[in-house]
Amino acid sequence: MSGQPRLYRELAAWWPLLSPPGEYLETATFYRALLEAACASPPRTLLELGSGGGNHALHLKHDLALTLVDLSEDMLAVSRALNPECEHVRGDMRSARLGRVFDCVLIHDAIDYMTSEADLRAAFETAFLHCRAGGAFLVAPDHVRETFEPSTDCGGSDAPDGRGLRYLEWTWDPDPFDTTIVTDYAYLLRERDGRASVEHDRHVTGLFPRDTWLGLLAEVGFAPSRADYPNEELAGYEVFAGRKPLLTPR
Ligand SMILES: C[S@@+](CC[C@H](N)C(=O)[O-])C[C@H]1O[C@@H](n2cnc3c(N)ncnc32)[C@H](O)[C@@H]1O
Repeated sequence: MSGQPRLYRELAAWWPLLSPPGEYLETATFYRALLEAACASPPRTLLELGSGGGNHALHLKHDLALTLVDLSEDMLAVSRALNPECEHVRGDMRSARLGRVFDCVLIHDAIDYMTSEADLRAAFETAFLHCRAGGAFLVAPDHVRETFEPSTDCGGSDAPDGRGLRYLEWTWDPDPFDTTIVTDYAYLLRERDGRASVEHDRHVTGLFPRDTWLGLLAEVGFAPSRADYPNEELAGYEVFAGRKPLLTPR
C-alpha cells in the first residue's frame, strides 16, 4: 500500500481536479455498449476493480447496480462522496474475493498498476471468479507495447471552493526490455487561501503486448477480443473484452 502513488494516498482529495468526473461520460457510454453487446442477457450488476475516484461509476450507476473496489481508502472516500448510493469495498484486484458474481466486471486504467504478467493474470482471475456465466469483462489499459510512445501532457482544473490544480505528466520507458514504464507528475496545488505548492509523484505502470492481454484472458477462461475506441480523440487507445462462456469447460 505504501508503494501506491501519492495521488492515491495523501493527495487523493486533489484527484477530481486532475481528472474531472464530467470527462468520463464518453468512455463510460462506450464501455456500457460493449458490455451490453458481450453479455448473453442485459446486464444489471457491475463490479469495478480499481474504481478510484468513481468517475466512471458516476455515469454508469443510473442503469447498473455498482460495487466499487479499490486498494486505497483515500480514493474510496473520494468516490463515496461522489457516489454515495454505490457499494464500496476496500480490496486488491489481485486477491479480492467478494463471494458473489456480477453480470459484468470492469477494470479501467487501474489495470496499469499491474506491472508483471503474474499480477495481470491474478487481476483477470479475480474478474473471472466474479463474473457470472454468460457475463462479460472489459479491461481498458492506457497503453499496449505495440503503440507505446513516450509523451508529455498537461492539464488541471479549479474547484468551486477556490482550490486549483495544474499538472505536467511525462511518460517514458527507462527499459524497453521489461514490462514497466514510468510516469513522472509535477502537481502545482493552489489552496483556498491562495498558497501554492509543488509536488512530485512517480507512477510505475505495466506495459504488455496485445498477445499477452488476449492470451491471459483466454488462460483464465474468457473468450477474448479487442476493440478500438470509436472517436478520434481517443485514437490509439484499445479495449480488451472477455466473454465468460455459459458452460465453462471442465
Ligand atoms: C487512475 S485511478 C482510477 C480512476 C478511475 N478510472 C475512475 O473512474 O475514477 C487508479 C486507481 O487504481 C487503484 N489501484 C492501484 N492498484 C490497485 C490494486 N492492486 N487493486 C485495486 N486498486 C488498485 C488506485 O488506488 C487508484 O485509485
